[in-house]
Amino acid sequence: MSSTLAPAASKLALLGGTRVGEVTYSRFPHFSEQAIARVADVLRAGKAVGLGRFHSPEIGEAEDTISRYHGGRRVLACGSGHAALQGALAGLEICGGDEVITTPYTWGASISCILHQNAIPVFVDVERETGLIDPAAVEAAITPRTKAILAVHIFGQPANLQALRAIADKHKLMLIEDGSQAHGAEIDGVRVGNVGDAAGFSCMGGKVLPTTEAGYLVSPHERVIWKAAMIGQHMGRSPEKDFPDDLRPWVDSLVYTYRITPLNSVLLTEQFGRLDGWIAERRRHADLLRAKLAGAKFLRMPDYAPGVKPVFHLMSFNFDPVAAGVSRDTFAAAMKAEGMLAFGYVPSPIPDWPRLHWQDYRGPRVSWLSSLAAANVDYRGMALPNCRWRVANSIETRFDYVDPNEGMVNRIAEIIHKVEANIGALRDYERAQGPAAPARR
Ligand SMILES: Cc1ncc(COP(=O)(O)O)c(C=O)c1O
Repeated sequence: MSSTLAPAASKLALLGGTRVGEVTYSRFPHFSEQAIARVADVLRAGKAVGLGRFHSPEIGEAEDTISRYHGGRRVLACGSGHAALQGALAGLEICGGDEVITTPYTWGASISCILHQNAIPVFVDVERETGLIDPAAVEAAITPRTKAILAVHIFGQPANLQALRAIADKHKLMLIEDGSQAHGAEIDGVRVGNVGDAAGFSCMGGKVLPTTEAGYLVSPHERVIWKAAMIGQHMGRSPEKDFPDDLRPWVDSLVYTYRITPLNSVLLTEQFGRLDGWIAERRRHADLLRAKLAGAKFLRMPDYAPGVKPVFHLMSFNFDPVAAGVSRDTFAAAMKAEGMLAFGYVPSPIPDWPRLHWQDYRGPRVSWLSSLAAANVDYRGMALPNCRWRVANSIETRFDYVDPNEGMVNRIAEIIHKVEANIGALRDYERAQGPAAPARR
């Protein structure tokens, strides 16, 4: 039990009491003086534009650094995580009408990369404990049109890659990983990104490996990288001497402009040098929080099998509304009033989103509706019980503790214990007021 337990007598801030205090973070993302100086040097030298590694040594350096981190996999540095993910699909030639089995519980860009290829997302349920895609549900959804599985390592937790790889191999499917929230997460010593046929990562400024806006694609298959470059980059990587001759006739400028800049390439290289240290700090803080929450009754961190090592991009708690006797949203409102961020990251299962409902959609036209109509998919009212449970009952918060900051982790625990200790008063409050508004960021 935590030594930071707030006395039950101290009244909740939501009910007019004094709040525990604001939960803060150190400057994030942080860039070293060396990184800032290198960016300035690139600008001064007039090298701010780079068409690819054949043109910009900074891009080549970043790709080599990423390749080393990913066990020698081939790399394409990109302008964003979305660009990397769409590059993954394009590089695997997954497009027009191909089915991709994926998760309904993620950031929309995990899905828009499929839509932008005119492929068809097939949503399956997740594991309730973690929100990660459920391999059994994946296998049950395979049809003759299935080409790939796209797994997302949500909140920095690694999806069950061993099971997914086995299913992909058994059914001759491609496995794609979205590691945007999980750089450095691992299972049994194997890093995410190193199991799939392709993996896309976001490196925008809020991620575990932050730049300003950037991303990268890794693959064990060299041709995936060349083909991804052909759809995302002016001239692809065709000026490189190893570029395959049989692909040359198809290189042109019918591209999405998904290039990375030399400026963000320098940041990528510099940030990778610090990544392992940052991850170690995130894990140390997560262990501390787990110990502090040992006595909590209504809110807990997910349990992980031995060998599963998340990186805690966000901290996701499982809330028990039955035991607590209040809704998730009221509990989160009480946490917020005490001084911390407390929100539900995924607002609703993605198949519920109106821009996927070609049958009755009335908004501005979007490019994927005709593909969905041609495939006659109906996403409306899918069951997805575990996804719906998480949407309704998990509570997320930021966890960017990459420098020692035990004080703030203690404060998070103190807030949670204080709200728990006042659960009776919170139940009365909810009975009188009704549940709080949905807990959003
Ligand atoms: C799971 C996931 N996939 C994809 C993306 C897209 O990354 P980006 O914003 O760099 O395009 C993000 C980032 O926001 C993400 O969290």
